[in-house]
Amino acid sequence: ARILVLHGPNLNLLGSREPEVYGRATLAEIDGSLAERARQAGHALESFQSNAEDALIDRVQAAKTDGTSFIVINPAAFTHTSVALRDALAAVAIPFVEVHLSNPHAREPFRRQSYFSDMAVGVVAGFGADSYRYALDAAITRLK
Ligand code: DQA
Repeated sequence: ARILVLHGPNLNLLGSREPEVYGRATLAEIDGSLAERARQAGHALESFQSNAEDALIDRVQAAKTDGTSFIVINPAAFTHTSVALRDALAAVAIPFVEVHLSNPHAREPFRRQSYFSDMAVGVVAGFGADSYRYALDAAITRLK
């Protein structure tokens, strides 16, 4: 099956961005190991990062017709702000897992609100880059 991994704003800076919060792995390293893990399980994985809400919405909309069966998404700061990105996921009705490197519940109060969690199959947060791996494993299990 086709799995789409979406990364929201500032995640292009992973590796150098607040490493004590987000870890030292770069986005390219994370995406590379996810693609390899998906391939070993017999799936095709594509990753897309944008700092722009409209680009992420357009990519979600495209997923409806490109054969995507499952989405793994770290909406980053849009987690707490974007009704529009939420609505895009509702519109395409593709199951998704919400991912965070940090544990938003252990941080500032404004990070406790997510526009995605109630629609997600599940949420993985707080395990650094491993959060993505656990989310992908959940996706692979659901696709069996
Ligand atoms: C994040 C948590 C968000 O609150 C924050 O805005 C991010 C990254 C995470 O992966 O821990 O940019 O989604």
